[in-house]
Amino acid sequence: MSHSAALPNHLAVIMDGNGRWAKQRQRPRTLGHRAGARAVRTIVEYCLKRGIPALTLFAFSSENWNRPEDEVGALMRLFLRVLESEVEELTRQQVHLRFIGDRSRFPEGIRARMGAAEAIRLPSPKLTLTLAAGYGGRADLAQAARRLAERVQAGTLRPDQIDEATLGEAMSLADLPPPDLFIRTGGEHRISNFLLWQLAYTELWFTDVLWPDLDDALLDTAIADFAGRERRFGLISEQLPTPALEAR
Ligand code: FPP
Repeated sequence: MSHSAALPNHLAVIMDGNGRWAKQRQRPRTLGHRAGARAVRTIVEYCLKRGIPALTLFAFSSENWNRPEDEVGALMRLFLRVLESEVEELTRQQVHLRFIGDRSRFPEGIRARMGAAEAIRLPSPKLTLTLAAGYGGRADLAQAARRLAERVQAGTLRPDQIDEATLGEAMSLADLPPPDLFIRTGGEHRISNFLLWQLAYTELWFTDVLWPDLDDALLDTAIADFAGRERRFGLISEQLPTPALEAR
């Protein structure tokens, strides 16, 4: 699908601030997560409307397992409910849903639904929606190293063939262009062990807005900011292709 160069091809998001959103309302944190799930719908619809073909959301980090048991339990119930209620509609909208991260600790009911959703084949998806669940950027690098080591051991790869390309191919999301825009809501200015390898040249955009308060206007602001940035990838301005007038 062709679209303006000013639009990102791949948006990666840390959805932070659900707990504080609930606290502001003197409500339990789990209510914030439920509101957060509605904001997921908002950003998916936005990507479909604007023609952004890839969206990767940090839904649950490898560190989130250490949260209080009742919050982890509530999040698991929410993930299960969302999987039960949303997959059909996502499929109808030509959204291909998939997951990255270590899912071994997720309850079997969730893992089965993750697998079933991923197995749905769409001939030409409008949006590839990747949920990072049980994900950590360092663990992603470690599993890539392990996979290459196994290939060396099996005799199908020589150590001198290990370079950025072979390692990159063993990382999560290797089949997508790297994220060109990263958004984090909730006021913190951190990557928090999200896509460490894949964010090397990604434009970073932070906002104090709490995730459940996300709306189209905020996303428009982020995209407009992105469109105005010059991405040099280590080069100098004069080496870059002249931007088209309409992109100015
Ligand atoms: C961060 O807010 C959010 C999470 C740890 C969970 C993300 C989950 C959702 C957005 C809901 C459902 C998502 C899907 C994909 C179905 P926080 O709890 O760290 O907020 P705080 O920093 O204010 O405490």
